[in-house]
Amino acid sequence: MTPKNIVLIGFMGSGKTLISKELEKILGRRRVSTDDLIEKQEHMTIPQIFSTKGEAYFRALEEDIIKDVSGKAGLIIDCGGGVVLNPKNVKNLKTQGILINLSITADSVLKNIAGGAHRPLLNVPDPRTKVEELLKARESYYTQADYSVVVDGKPLDTLTQDVLKVIKNVEP
Ligand code: S3P
Repeated sequence: MTPKNIVLIGFMGSGKTLISKELEKILGRRRVSTDDLIEKQEHMTIPQIFSTKGEAYFRALEEDIIKDVSGKAGLIIDCGGGVVLNPKNVKNLKTQGILINLSITADSVLKNIAGGAHRPLLNVPDPRTKVEELLKARESYYTQADYSVVVDGKPLDTLTQDVLKVIKNVEP
């Protein structure tokens, strides 16, 4: 049986990219990043897309990419932090995937994003207020995941092991 997709969701800076790369090495499964696929398709970086075409344009691209990767199986999918805001994306990802949320506090996000220059939504004069606002507004979206792993204060190897435990539980 082809394994389901392992879908990492969670706020910006929660470690989706780092952990998905570790999982790729350990599990030998193909990893895709929705942000990377968008950048490759548009020949532009995410900040360039936001500044020249706007967020709505980016979200439409994101929806198409999610639809595409959701139709595959056995992937590790590193999702942009806003993917869960669109119910169509959640529905598509769940058809063939296990959604794992990386749960994180504002303090840890601020530590991890280091300025946030490549994240247009956090490239603002007061990132703390913005992170706190967005985390609050998105809380109920991230809890749509099948599983949640707490990120705060854990080194990468512990976190990777925590996510692996979830995967092993689902795919014994
Ligand atoms: C976004 C998260 C980013 C990227 C874009 C929008 C969001 O991805 O998709 O800047 O709305 O949370 P990361 O979560 O990988 O930073």
